[in-house]
Amino acid sequence: KENPTSLIVIFGATGDLAKRKLYQSLYRLYKNGSISKNFAVVGVARRPLTNEDFRANVAKSVNGAASGNADVEEFSSHFYYQPFDVTSSESYQQLKSLSSSLDQEYQTNGNRMFYLAMAPEFFGTIASNLKAEGLTDTTGFKRLVIEKPFGHSLPTAKELNEEIRGAFHESEIYRIDHYLGKEMVQNIEVIRFANALFEPLWNNRYISNIQITSSEVLGVEDRGRYYENSGALRDMVQNHMLQMVALLAMEPPIKLNPEEIRSEKVKVLRALRQIDQSEVDQYFVRGQYSAGMIEEERVPGYREENSVDPASNTETYVAGKLVIDNFRWAGVPIYIRTGKRMSSKSTKVVVQFKDIPMNLYYNRGEKVDPNLLVIHIQPDEGITLHLNAKKSGKDITTTPIKLDYSNNCIDGINTPEAYERLIFDAMRGDMTNFTHWDEVALSWSFIDQVSKAWESTTAEDFPNYEAGSVGPKKADELLKRDGFHWWNV
Ligand code: BG6
Repeated sequence: KENPTSLIVIFGATGDLAKRKLYQSLYRLYKNGSISKNFAVVGVARRPLTNEDFRANVAKSVNGAASGNADVEEFSSHFYYQPFDVTSSESYQQLKSLSSSLDQEYQTNGNRMFYLAMAPEFFGTIASNLKAEGLTDTTGFKRLVIEKPFGHSLPTAKELNEEIRGAFHESEIYRIDHYLGKEMVQNIEVIRFANALFEPLWNNRYISNIQITSSEVLGVEDRGRYYENSGALRDMVQNHMLQMVALLAMEPPIKLNPEEIRSEKVKVLRALRQIDQSEVDQYFVRGQYSAGMIEEERVPGYREENSVDPASNTETYVAGKLVIDNFRWAGVPIYIRTGKRMSSKSTKVVVQFKDIPMNLYYNRGEKVDPNLLVIHIQPDEGITLHLNAKKSGKDITTTPIKLDYSNNCIDGINTPEAYERLIFDAMRGDMTNFTHWDEVALSWSFIDQVSKAWESTTAEDFPNYEAGSVGPKKADELLKRDGFHWWNV
């Protein structure tokens, strides 16, 4: 197949995401020959910039990523800038004529990808204007790539969806969840479905519980305004965490195509037990960080961050117990936890297998450890299998051992690799690693119950964990009640 080509219009071209991820990712795709040289990028944003200024910014973003940057200049010559007002017809008309001439100049076959990497309140306006002003009338494909947050609740997500569906068909909408672009998140499916060893055990007969942790050291940085309205539940759980749950719990798809994979994920989300607002405390724990020490530096508490209400009720930590009501998972809790200002940056999945039926090896009265399969998502990438073996010596007692596989990983944290894959997939029309509307809707309907319960009550104990710690104590009790504990392995 030929390398894909397109005109790419980036809304929010001066924004953080574009600067930190998108330009570098495009550069890598360009550099390793994944995309055709017939591409052009139009950056739009409010601020007035010339093409030259913009290209200089792009080159600056890219230089950090590039070793040997001889062709950075050639690369950035594909970039054009247009100051833009998302509500003005004139802006769209200008963009339309610039797009047509770039279609010609770069022979992009009329393919157009509109990437919305900006404030979500304008997503709907932009999509409908793109259609109304004729930018979507093109001879090639038209695709909308849209960043999170996709709505704030089910009703707002529906509203947004209707607005964009007026201009783009579901098969043209690429909703980004950057976790789906991560190497080891993509590996979940392969580990499960390419090994005779795991899939037969991947059910409630052999697995006792699954734990998914995504902890961050960073606080809310300069995103206080956004975060106050979002909190960890909407920021991480509605999307990234539930997507990982779906990948871990789905049935094997009959084929590895986007429709089949996404439809299996949808089934998991449909089987996810809805929690009633009145029961939220039995299933979820919320936390907020206070000031504390991180890497020997004192950092402020959440309530002292910029643009944060000094009496904020917003959670920066969530732990939850999810229940999937289907044959495979009945009786197997899936625990999730995610938080900011934790002691380490780490995302991993721990699958805990059931205890052996009878223990022959009491190690001085202690039980043998259960088998664990750990999928390290970041910063380490790899898998570890925790087993038991004979402890060397005269006595027949056991000792835990580990089988380790580590991807030869470049620092996986927030690297552009995830974006690189996702942009490439969007250009070649592979929707597998983008979220379908049905997934988004089901996730929100689950999350909405929890957020309604939390928003209607004040968290009296906030702040309830110190920056640099492992989170609130209550998160331990959540598992203890079921006879489990978090594995910090
Ligand atoms: C984003 C959230 O979606 O994911 C951020 O908005 C969070 O708050 C980030 O920091 C985490 O991504 P990663 O790739 O660093 O785990």
